[in-house]
Amino acid sequence: MARIFSGIQPSGQLHIGNYLGALRNWVREQNDDALYCVVDLHALTEDVDPAEVRRGSLELAVGLLAVGLDPEVCTIFVQSHVPEHARLSWLLECTVTYGELTRMTQFKDKSKRGDVVRGGLLTYPVLMAADIFLYNTEVVPVGDDQRQHMELTRVLAERFNNRFGETFVVPEAMVPTFAARVMDLQDPTRKMSKSELSPQGTVNMYDDADTVARKVRRAVTDTDGEVRWDREGKPGVANLLEILAALGDEDPKAVAERYETYGALKDDVAGALIEALAPIRARRDELLEDPAVVRALLARGADRAGEMASVTYARAAAAMGLLAP
Ligand code: AMP
Ligand code: TRP
Repeated sequence: MARIFSGIQPSGQLHIGNYLGALRNWVREQNDDALYCVVDLHALTEDVDPAEVRRGSLELAVGLLAVGLDPEVCTIFVQSHVPEHARLSWLLECTVTYGELTRMTQFKDKSKRGDVVRGGLLTYPVLMAADIFLYNTEVVPVGDDQRQHMELTRVLAERFNNRFGETFVVPEAMVPTFAARVMDLQDPTRKMSKSELSPQGTVNMYDDADTVARKVRRAVTDTDGEVRWDREGKPGVANLLEILAALGDEDPKAVAERYETYGALKDDVAGALIEALAPIRARRDELLEDPAVVRALLARGADRAGEMASVTYARAAAAMGLLAP
């Protein structure tokens, strides 16, 4: 079994992009050797509302359980509960170059948006590499937007190993073939995201059936009227086809052949989403009734993760010449 690790930020609401691009694969791939992390330190790179970070972290852990991660099988924990993440990140910051960090498209996009650009936004991908290395991770299930960060992660592992001796496993990204980049329903040239810029274009995982149906019905398509798979030419229709295809584990081209009209396609997209999301929402409501159970489970997860992380951290620190305490 491959060692799996992935992380997700506790900022904003979970949406169907997170589900189809990442979380569904996390559930499928979960095993005794899988670790899934609520990356609260990464959330500090944006504008911080302390109460929101705290509430969001617990709620996200609840969400991970609700989608089907089983704490008896895999390890679920909060990043800041294992101090080696920040410690290893520093060591790696001293191996990455400024040029490598400023080339990251996510950094370029996010630094253009805000009026302050914090240091943490620049070093964000290094912390991500540390997350991955601490557990000797082989496979990282993520959406398409994390490809570039994963490339840098591999570069950092190879560089460290060459310079300081074999220390880190060089990990692979696992990106789904379809729906790896779910687009905004109102602007299908932009990826669906947790930011609150487009509430009507974002289907949240806990939206009720009426809300899902309304958002899908109003999704922007085109005036051509023909259901066809064409990502560049017909991004709105392609997005709907990919969502439906991913939910049924089909090929979007094959799905396209079954539809004559946009209306019929939208009805089925809405229906499939409602069916997939209803049980998740119900489990989440149940779990929210007893947050103490979730806290206990996160504590157990952090203990398990911490044991592994301290071994890797000590190895990396020694390799770089830090005197053992
Ligand atoms: P984030 O919400 O940025 O913490 O992302 C958590 C996971 O969801 C990552 O693996 C992302 O690649 C994935 N993800 C986020 N947005 C999308 C999207 N619109 N389509 C597909 N995957 C996504
Ligand atoms: N950067 C990832 C995102 O925005 C989240 C993340 C942090 C992550 N650490 C990670 C993903 C480690 C995979 C592995 O989606």
